[in-house]
Parts: sequence; structure tokens; C-alpha cells
Amino acid sequence: MARKKKDETVELKVPEHVAIIMDGNGRWAKKRFLPRSAGHSAGSRTVEQICDDAWSLGIKYLTVYAFSTENWKRSDSEVATLMDLLRKYMKNCLERSRKNNMKVCVIGDVTRLDEDLRHSIEELTRESAGNTGLCFTVALNYGGRDELVRAFKKMMADAQSGRISESEVSEETISQYLDTAGMPDPDLVIRTSGEIRLSNFLPWQSAYSELYFTDVLWPDFDKKELIKAIEYYNKKDRRFGGRNEE
Ligand code: FPP
Repeated sequence: MARKKKDETVELKVPEHVAIIMDGNGRWAKKRFLPRSAGHSAGSRTVEQICDDAWSLGIKYLTVYAFSTENWKRSDSEVATLMDLLRKYMKNCLERSRKNNMKVCVIGDVTRLDEDLRHSIEELTRESAGNTGLCFTVALNYGGRDELVRAFKKMMADAQSGRISESEVSEETISQYLDTAGMPDPDLVIRTSGEIRLSNFLPWQSAYSELYFTDVLWPDFDKKELIKAIEYYNKKDRRFGGRNEE
């Protein structure tokens, strides 16, 4: 992508896969004397906009942390609000994914979700599977350690039935057992609202990702902020532990 800056043209290298920890909905609402649910609704609108912005900037994969395995500890009413928002989102998203050619995936343990939500997810992921636009992944009841536990269980079952042997276990085969199988690892992980931690989000996949933390609260995150994150990514010297070729 080329962007004009004053008189010069600056070439920005756009990360192929951006993953986002969307934090700060509650504080956004509090600042406005609104209930936390209003922050989550605003955050949900930001998700829709940022999908369009990401695609227009040239990002191919966008993954967002919508509900973690730890989020069940929130109050019953907050969990219900988030589940209702996700329900609405999955329903509306079917229409949007048809219009903008977006492929939608879900990672995480969906078995704990209500049946109607699981059904909407199944319909949306099946209907959008052949789309060739943005590959948008929602992490739902996702925890990186839980993902690894489920992956090890699948691998052990495959070992017992002779489908995999010890000599075949490698970083590549482990990746194929994760929820993100087939997706490239994130190049850039963004966390909003000033917290400096990954909170169990894609721990295996983000081993070499660039990390960008911003104080901006998720509902206020927009295309300008996404470009700032990409500019930060451009300043980084990605060596993957080796030496850069001149
Ligand atoms: C963190 O903010 C955010 C969440 C736990 C949920 C993220 C969910 C959404 C943005 C909306 C639904 C998602 C989709 C994909 C439609 P927080 O409540 O922890 O904020 P705080 O730290 O300021 O309290």
C-alpha cells in the first residue's frame, strides 16, 4: 500500500494477519456515565467498521478476542449482554459477509455456548467458507492454554488410533491441531486500553508477533489508530531470532 505523506510517498508494509485484544469497553461506558452494556454495544459497532478498514488497508486476516474462557467469571448479566450481542452479530454478519465477501471463522471451545448461538455460528461459517475477502476470525470462549489442552487431547487420540506417530510431531503438526489450523500466525497483535499483557490470547501463534499497545479504548479505535499500529509495525526489524539479510 502507498500512502502520501506531505510531499513524499511512503510505502507501508501491511501485516498479512492482525490480531486484536479489544479492551476498554467498560471504561469507555463509565467515562460517559453509561452502563457497561453500552460500552460493549459500541465495541461491537467498532468491530464491524474495523473489518472494512482492515480490508481496505490490505490486511488479509483479522482475528479478534471477543470472549475469553475467563470471561464467564463476569456477572451473569454482563455475560448475558455479551452473548446477546454475539447472537445479534452472528445473525447480521451473514448478510454482511455476502455483501463484502468476508469469510468468517470462530476459534475457541464453542461447545459451552447456547445451542442457538452455535447454530448461527455453524451457518455463518459454512455459508461464508468460500468467500475470498477478509478472513475474519472471532475468538469465542477462547483461551490459549485451553486450545493447547484440546489440541494435545486430539493428538493423543490420533496417536492411539495410529494416525500420527511420535516422529511426525513437529511445530507444523502441532499448529495443525490448533483452532487456527491453516491460518498464518499473526504478524501484529494489538491491545487497546493501556493494559500490557496478552491474557492467554494466541500464545503459540504469537511467538514472533510484533506487539502494539495503545491507550485508546476499544470503542474509540478507528482506521487512523489502525494505521498508527501498522506504522509501528513498519518500524520494527522482524528477525525471527535470526539475522536480517541485507
Ligand atoms: C473488554 O472490555 C472487552 C470484552 C471482554 C468483550 C469484547 C466484546 C466486544 C467488543 C463486543 C462483541 C464482539 C463482537 C465480535 C461482535 P472490558 O469490558 O474488559 O473493558 P474494561 O477493562 O474497560 O472494563
